[in-house]
Amino acid sequence: MPRDQAAALIRAAFAGRRFAYAPYSHFAVGAALLAKDGRVFTGCNIENAGYTPTNCAERTALFKAVSEGVTEFSAIAVVGSLQGKRNELPTGPCGVCRQALFEFTGPDLVVLMAKSEDDYIETTLGALLPYGFGPKNLEIDPSRPND
Ligand code: THU
Repeated sequence: MPRDQAAALIRAAFAGRRFAYAPYSHFAVGAALLAKDGRVFTGCNIENAGYTPTNCAERTALFKAVSEGVTEFSAIAVVGSLQGKRNELPTGPCGVCRQALFEFTGPDLVVLMAKSEDDYIETTLGALLPYGFGPKNLEIDPSRPND
């Protein structure tokens, strides 16, 4: 995607990261999900004393969008690092988030794993989750789930 558009989405992911609730791992993550209608949904990770209820930033953004009726997306930016530190490694969506995103986007979603607005890896969900299993396998259209 064009570099200025990528930079804007990464900036939104950093904005989302400010709200990360990560008192256990101290690893703060932000995501920004670009819908096909141009809207951007941000998310942060939300941890839990019970550990397993923890929600990743990517799924927070995805669930915000879907719960508001938006189900078509073109790109997601992800940023993550230990609180107060810059990240050495790019943060990619975890396996669960890859599967959750695949449900709505299939392989074409552009994924930006960013260290800064101009230092990022651009890939696709299809590259991160090859041969993903999705609604097409079950002959379901995810944009019309209630038909
Ligand atoms: N985390 C995310 O939010 N997204 C990712 O892509 C990787 C991991 C969160 C989950 C947990 O709160 C913390 O980062 C450490 O795993």
